[in-house]
Amino acid sequence: MAQPQPCLPALASAHALLRACPLAPKEARALLAHALEVPAERLIAHPESRVDQRAQEAFSHLVSERQRGTPMAYLLGVQEFYGHRVRVTPEVLIPRPDTELLVETALHLLRGRAGMRVLDLGTGSGCIGIALALARPDLWIVACDRSPAALRVAQENCGRLGVSLQLVAAQWYAPMRGHFDLIISNPPYIAAGDRHLADLSFEPRAALTDEADGLTALRTIIAGAGERLSRGGQLLVEHGYDQGPAVRAMMLEYGFAQATTLRDLAGQERACLGARRGASRGAAALASSRVAEPMRAREGPD
Ligand SMILES: C[S@@+](CC[C@H](N)C(=O)[O-])C[C@H]1O[C@@H](n2cnc3c(N)ncnc32)[C@H](O)[C@@H]1O
Repeated sequence: MAQPQPCLPALASAHALLRACPLAPKEARALLAHALEVPAERLIAHPESRVDQRAQEAFSHLVSERQRGTPMAYLLGVQEFYGHRVRVTPEVLIPRPDTELLVETALHLLRGRAGMRVLDLGTGSGCIGIALALARPDLWIVACDRSPAALRVAQENCGRLGVSLQLVAAQWYAPMRGHFDLIISNPPYIAAGDRHLADLSFEPRAALTDEADGLTALRTIIAGAGERLSRGGQLLVEHGYDQGPAVRAMMLEYGFAQATTLRDLAGQERACLGARRGASRGAAALASSRVAEPMRAREGPD
C-alpha cells in the first residue's frame, strides 16, 4: 500500500527527496530523473539540484505506483534489450534477458548467410526482430502479433531505433505467404494454473499464458512451421524451464530432423532449435556450452 510522502517544500533538493523516498536508492533515482526528464547520472553529479512542484508531484505518483508493484519498465517506458532501449507500455510484455538467447542464437545461425528471410512470431514490443535487424540490416524480417496495440508499440520502436520490419496483424501463420529461412518465437508458454502468473499481473495476460497447459501456442507454432520453412530452414522457440522434453518431442513429432535444447545463463533449459533436413547450419554450428541435449528423429521430413 502506498505510504504518504512527507511534506516537502515547494522547491526541494533532489537529495532531500531521495533521502525521504521509501524505495531502493537506484529505483528512486531513476524515477526522480524520469520525473525531471534528465539522465539519472545528473542526479548523482548534482544531488543539490532543485525539484519544482510539478516534478515532485510526478515523482510522488511514480513512487506510489512502484509501491503498488508496477514494474519499473512500465513506469520509465523503456527496457534495455540486447543493448537497445526498447519502448514498452502495459500492452506489451517487458522483454527479458532470457530472450536475448534467441537473438544471440539466431545471429550465430545466420552468420555469413546474406539476405535470409526471418519470421518473428508474437513480436510484442518488436524486441527480437528489431535486435536482429540492427545487427543484420541485410535480413528480410516479418514480425507478427495478434495484438494491434502491441504492433503499434513495435512500430514505434522501429521508428525510434531506425529499422524497418514488415509488421503484420496475424494469428501466428494465418496470412503468411512464402517461405522463411528462420522462424523465431517467444510465445505465451506459462500454464494457466502456474503460480508465477500472480507475480506478473501488470503484464498482458495474453502475452504470458495460453490459458491451458502452456504448450498450446508452442504446438501451433511447431506444427505449422514445416509449411512455412524453406528447405533447410530452422525453427527457434523459447519455452519454460520445465518444457524442454515436451518441446523436443513435439519437434520430432512434427517432422523436424533434429531438436536441440539451449540453456539460459542460469543453466535452465530455455529454448529449442529445430532443424529441417538439409539445414546448412544446425546444432553442430552452435558449438557453445549453452547447447545441450540434441535429439534426432529416426526419420526426418521429405
Ligand atoms: C511472450 S510475448 C513475447 C513478446 C516479445 N516477442 C518478447 O520476446 O518480449 C508473446 C506475444 O505473442 C502474442 N500472441 C499471443 N497469441 C498470439 C497469436 N495467436 N497470434 C499471434 N501473436 C500472439 C502476444 O500478443 C505477445 O505479444
